Amino acid sequence: MPRNYFDEPVAARYDADSTDMFDPSVLEPAVDFLAGLAGSGSALELGIGTGRLALPLSRRGVRVQGIDLSPAMVERLRAKPGAEHIGVTIGDFATTVVGGTFNLAYLVYNTITNLTTQDEQVECFRTVARQLETGGCFVVEVFVPALQRLPPGETVRAFHLSPTRLGFDEYDVATQTLSSHHYVVEDGHLRTGSMPFRYVWPAELDLMARLAGMRLRERWSDWGREPFTSESSSHISVWQKTG
Ligand SMILES: C[S@@+](CC[C@H](N)C(=O)[O-])C[C@H]1O[C@@H](n2cnc3c(N)ncnc32)[C@H](O)[C@@H]1O
Repeated sequence: MPRNYFDEPVAARYDADSTDMFDPSVLEPAVDFLAGLAGSGSALELGIGTGRLALPLSRRGVRVQGIDLSPAMVERLRAKPGAEHIGVTIGDFATTVVGGTFNLAYLVYNTITNLTTQDEQVECFRTVARQLETGGCFVVEVFVPALQRLPPGETVRAFHLSPTRLGFDEYDVATQTLSSHHYVVEDGHLRTGSMPFRYVWPAELDLMARLAGMRLRERWSDWGREPFTSESSSHISVWQKTG
């Protein structure tokens, strides 16, 4: 089982720390996009967390199930209205099969990169494909590795700079990994934390999908279906199970 980085202290702060991700201008297009693909079928969220997307999707009438490694995150979801309609399995989404089939599976907010090896990411696509109906879709929202934005020879890029918060991504191209380092001043105290990720390229994800019996159907730069270009810093990709 992978290490759980979303333990009690992280879970307790998660919604407050991610307020921008809960903003209706972010949530509504994502929910529209996912509800459109789910249609009248069921959806499976990998890394469901505190239910940021699962709850509004369920309110739209989509039957949602989730998988998450972190009991503390799921406890936050359970405390929210509407959670009684959502089944959650505690486990590793790279290998966990929940039972039943879905016509949509989705993995958002860069969470595919929490799987820190290529083997785990490949396994995740295979496990999703096993649980999709033929014609069902797998949606991933993930950043494009920012290597082009690193000055030559540098390995560290700031992603947040403010008087009370610093965040740096440290890239290692030999292992295709990055560590995100966070430094937050709160009530005069410094809180620090680092999390490992495996960054992954769109073309590599397409290959993982093929290995699992899926083909790319759509790729956009955001939930509003803006075109994906060489300038895009992230993408929403949709693969469809072919057979
Ligand atoms: C960044 S949060 C995203 C939560 C939610 N999807 C959202 O959009 O707000 C990542 C979530 O994925 C879970 N997670 C990370 N790696 C996992 C794994 N290998 N298996 C299951 N859950 C995992 C974490 O516990 C956490 O709840």
